[in-house]
Amino acid sequence: MDTALIILAAGKGTRMNSDLPKVLHPVAQSPLLEHAMASGATLEPAHTVVVAGHGADLVRAAAQSFDETATVVEQTEQLGTAHAVAQARDALTGFDGMALVLYGDTPFVQPETLERMRDALAQHDVVVLGFDAIDPARYGRLVLKGDTLERIVEFKDATEAERAITLCNSGVVACKSGLLFELIDAVGNDNASGEYYLTDIIGLARDRGLSATVVTCPEVETMGVNSRADLAVADAAFQTRARAGLLEDGITLMAPETVYLARDTVIGRDSVIEPNVVFGPGVTVESGATIRAFSHLEGCHVSRGAIVGPYARLRPGTELAEDVRVGNFVEIKNAEIQAGAKVNHLSYIGDACVGTRANIGAGTITCNYDGVMKHHTHIGADAFIGSNTMLVAPVTIGSGAITGSGSVITSDVEPDALALSRAPQVEKPGRARKLFETLKKQKEQRQRKS
Ligand code: UD1
Ligand code: CA
Repeated sequence: MDTALIILAAGKGTRMNSDLPKVLHPVAQSPLLEHAMASGATLEPAHTVVVAGHGADLVRAAAQSFDETATVVEQTEQLGTAHAVAQARDALTGFDGMALVLYGDTPFVQPETLERMRDALAQHDVVVLGFDAIDPARYGRLVLKGDTLERIVEFKDATEAERAITLCNSGVVACKSGLLFELIDAVGNDNASGEYYLTDIIGLARDRGLSATVVTCPEVETMGVNSRADLAVADAAFQTRARAGLLEDGITLMAPETVYLARDTVIGRDSVIEPNVVFGPGVTVESGATIRAFSHLEGCHVSRGAIVGPYARLRPGTELAEDVRVGNFVEIKNAEIQAGAKVNHLSYIGDACVGTRANIGAGTITCNYDGVMKHHTHIGADAFIGSNTMLVAPVTIGSGAITGSGSVITSDVEPDALALSRAPQVEKPGRARKLFETLKKQKEQRQRKS
């Protein structure tokens, strides 16, 4: 069955105390909304509809930067979850597969859980994701008769007996798309909150003799974010699970609790991650690589056998080929470092290509920015860049060429040539001793005066 995702993201998130819409606050360096979209995306949906309200323009931009085919509809007044889902109706005209409602502020529902819901929908008309709450608090309660879900009652509207139920509504619902909108048409707002409750569709479906059931998942998956404190708890929960996943996948984390991962971090088997490494968005590390302590990586790819750090910074667009070495206090941005090349100490390599086996001496800098535009540096295979070389881009260093230490290279260097650009050395015999004597005398005179 085809799937359409309806992601509710119109709420203001008052308790975040923020100018940013709640669903755009990040967990593991991705907006909450992106977590929900990514989880749903594993079902390969035919449509993704995001219901935006507060900060709709920002929400639209974020949704479409993750998935440019996503439709964003606006719910101008937040009249309840059923009213929010109703906003997706026009976007799904003619679609007759499964509509799956997710919340943009609930980041951790696992793809396997959504698959179980889809499977259950083959046997039932409506499927709700429930969880056994340790503290059921103000969640909607799931009222069951046998395996049949009879209705969902919101906390505010529940009797004492219903409040004693611990099986709670996560908010995630699956239903055939046409039926979902039919049921929503029948939802009213005669309840304690005066809102149109999506949860009312269960009772309405049962009244029509349709079947409804519950799929359950661990409570952590249903965790919603309503405050900054929740955001911190969610991030910590994400990190704990992601680190455990890496350990299970055969990656060594020397001090797991000090490694900070992003939502989309991918690390291959037998890689070693030393303590205090931060992964920003968009990092892939192949098998058998080593990321040494205190390195910071984002938007980059590290190939098999490469060693990075300690104290390295890989910025977006960095591509390290196999067995590359990037050492301490090296920053690389938008650059391809080809197999076996070495950039071991105190360098900045930006907007560049470094050829295979090239050696970049300590303190080398690609002067890539003229204050207005960025320019490219090309370094050929087996080139040897002397320490403290300034490569003023655009510039090409031929393969096998050498630049002398301290050179400022402003023109292209032919392959196999030696390029030097520095003041010639002069030597004055005995002058150092004389200079010291003069300076010492000056100092004594000053001290006598004062
Ligand atoms: C909802 C459920 C409740 C469930 C709980 C789980 C209903 C009536 N209640 O309650 O059974 O236990 O979630 O967290 O569905 N939203 C909109 N537009 C609206 C209203 C809400 O986009 O008009 C979005 C919110 O931004 C949020 C989500 O829908 O992401 C849930 O809304 P919220 O008001 O938090 O619902 P709860 O009262 O928590
Ligand atoms: Ca809520």
